[in-house]
Amino acid sequence: MTSPGTNRRWLLANRPVGSVSVDSFQWTESSIPSPGEGQALVRNLWLSLDPTQILFTSESMEQFAIPIGGVMRSLAAGRIVESKVSGFAPGDLVQGFFGWEDYSITGAGPSPMPDDLPLLKLPTYVSPEVAIGTLGVTGMAAYFGTVDIARAKSGETFVVSSASGGVGSVAGQIAKIHGLRVIGVTGGKEKRDRLIEELQFDGAIDRNSEDVGSKLDALCPEGVDIFFDTNSLPSVINAVLKRLRHLGRVVLCGATPYYLSKERPNEYVNYTALIMKRGRMEGLLAREYFDRFPEAQAALAGWIKSGRLKPVLDTVVGLENAPLALQRVFTGANFGKQLLEISES
Ligand SMILES: NC(=O)c1ccc[n+]([C@@H]2O[C@H](COP(=O)([O-])OP(=O)(O)OC[C@H]3O[C@@H](n4cnc5c(N)ncnc54)[C@H](OP(=O)(O)O)[C@@H]3O)[C@@H](O)[C@H]2O)c1
Repeated sequence: MTSPGTNRRWLLANRPVGSVSVDSFQWTESSIPSPGEGQALVRNLWLSLDPTQILFTSESMEQFAIPIGGVMRSLAAGRIVESKVSGFAPGDLVQGFFGWEDYSITGAGPSPMPDDLPLLKLPTYVSPEVAIGTLGVTGMAAYFGTVDIARAKSGETFVVSSASGGVGSVAGQIAKIHGLRVIGVTGGKEKRDRLIEELQFDGAIDRNSEDVGSKLDALCPEGVDIFFDTNSLPSVINAVLKRLRHLGRVVLCGATPYYLSKERPNEYVNYTALIMKRGRMEGLLAREYFDRFPEAQAALAGWIKSGRLKPVLDTVVGLENAPLALQRVFTGANFGKQLLEISES
């Protein structure tokens, strides 16, 4: 229970290395701040727990690193309580990089963080959790990676890694909607089975207990047209590149296993396969499509409404559980987009 006028917050206590521990964060309570000119006070309602946010706890981000004692940064959705920002009024539902706290002060317009988005109104034609979970940056990465970078075409074979995660579960479903045959690679038997039973993927592979190469041979006898990669595991990339078809495409979306360590994927990656196949590997940065977010959000919302796209959200409740919720995306405990609901009481 929050006392009236209290802002509960998680501050960065030390810089996590190797794994996410609750000890890296410090719980504190302070008074609710007041917005200055050009700022708004937001009551946070939902946090999006993204592997990317751990990057900002590292000193290697230099001037962009969250300082020790600074509030842990997070993409969040909330309701404006007080606004001195033109175009935003109390009651508006908004999203932005706010933080692990009940109340955040935000300003509209560009901010110094390299992955920042301006203060944005939340689409109101879906629930706030679907707006931030499926129509947020996760869904934007899935949409533009699949539609624009991979140029998915009906009849092709699409393989996606961390297929049961936030980006992967949406990318795979978008590919299905476009008429592709979709195979998910995931870390666990239960997640593998749920991809087929709940999301109707055409096949799925548990990379922990199955040989990815021989499973790909069985599931994709003609090879792979598109590989949507969210975790940069050399063993998986090598296996897929070996089976890439002529004019195949590889979307480089993320490198989750490497965000908590100085180690980088350095095993031999079979990229020379791209030469003879005239294949293409391309990096994806969802925020570069910012001007086209409304187009992608409308498409995703339309598919949700028609029942063709299932929002897959994995919700932890209570601000006090934010470190545990972040831990889940680094242990693979999540199925779907990892969110945290902050109760308003
Ligand atoms: N480029 C962009 O614009 C953009 C935008 C959004 C997100 N991303 C990136 O996309 C990726 C997915 O983001 P998300 O929010 O959807 O997260 P997510 O996939 O829901 O969660 C992370 C997943 O990574 C896998 N994982 C975690 N630690 C691992 C390890 N040590 N080894 C192997 N696999 C591990 C786990 O799935 P499995 O065990 O099932 O593989 C886990 O569920 C992240 O790397 C994120 O930074 C990029």
